[in-house]
Amino acid sequence: MSDLITGDDGTVGSDVVAGDGFIALEGVEKVFEVRRKTGFLRRERREVRAVDALSFTVGRGEMVGYIGPNGAGKSTTIKMLTGILTPSAGRLRVAGIDPARERSRLAHRIGVVFGQRTTLWWDLPLIDSYRLAHRMYRIPDARYRENLDRLVELLDLGALLDVPVRQLSLGQRMRGDIAAALLHDPDVLYLDEPTIGLDVVSKARVREFLREVNAERGTTVLLTTHDLQDIEQLCSRVMVIDHGRLVYDGPLAGLHEAGESERTLVVDLERELPPVQVPSARVVRVEGPRQWLAFPAGQSAAPVVAHLAARYPLVDLSVREPDIEAVIARMYAEKAVS
Ligand SMILES: Nc1ncnc2c1ncn2[C@@H]1O[C@H](COP(=O)(O)OP(=O)(O)O)[C@@H](O)[C@H]1O
Ligand SMILES: [Mg+2]
Repeated sequence: MSDLITGDDGTVGSDVVAGDGFIALEGVEKVFEVRRKTGFLRRERREVRAVDALSFTVGRGEMVGYIGPNGAGKSTTIKMLTGILTPSAGRLRVAGIDPARERSRLAHRIGVVFGQRTTLWWDLPLIDSYRLAHRMYRIPDARYRENLDRLVELLDLGALLDVPVRQLSLGQRMRGDIAAALLHDPDVLYLDEPTIGLDVVSKARVREFLREVNAERGTTVLLTTHDLQDIEQLCSRVMVIDHGRLVYDGPLAGLHEAGESERTLVVDLERELPPVQVPSARVVRVEGPRQWLAFPAGQSAAPVVAHLAARYPLVDLSVREPDIEAVIARMYAEKAVS
């Protein structure tokens, strides 16, 4: 078996250092079968490959951003990492535990916040959800008290404990959810869009809190967000997923570079010619009368095109963006809309 995966027997202790596969996925796939009604008694079956050949590891204590466009497979990944969904293929371990097979054992080790859906009891005062967690996770009384006091203070929940959850604002509710996810001292925290819909002040508060939890308790954090500022302020490492596949894994700075590096101009000439000569662009590939030119992404294509048009017999041309750039561009576009 792969050395990516941490002890099958669940023996993950304090000896595990960052860099080890505290969270480890290997060739993970998730295929949904969707049935669509296409007529009277007629149904069409279609497969949606939400996650495809996904492999990565996250070390203990890391705080990693997990980003990508809508429908990329982020939430599906998180659901597999909590055991809510079973992968269609591949191997997956969190703290040495197979999530789908030992979901309740894993529940004691992880905390989850889904920004779109609260785990709190809607009609009950906030404190009741915490009391229930106290019993459900069998948190020792002293530990529960201590954690509750700390979370209430850090997340400023004091005045809200007796308020029914449905009366809380979105920002208050999110803070309430985050506290609920951390009451049992989980080693891993998954956050799926924790700042969605929050105002600037609430966002800042949530970010500051997450930074503290990660720094002080060494909690491993996997953060899914549409808000690139979340990532900029919290995560030194970022993973980008697109169409269920990991397309980037590295430092945020590298992502900016990858997103800005080069664009490609595809040029169709009337006939086969030696590589064309254009200032500030270079031919990277030639196939018959077609040539590929790379030029800096920050630069307009217009002068390159003008230069070519004046000197070469052009039939057609098009600009191609690198995949990663397309991903980021789409994300920025979505960000601008929301
Ligand atoms: N329960 C489901 N049944 C069918 N398709 C699903 C289900 N959940 C997610 N999908 C599909 O899987 C893809 C990935 O979805 P999701 O993981 O929610 O993306 P993200 O969180 O990145 O926006 C999408 O095409 C979505 O429509
Ligand atoms: Mg999602």
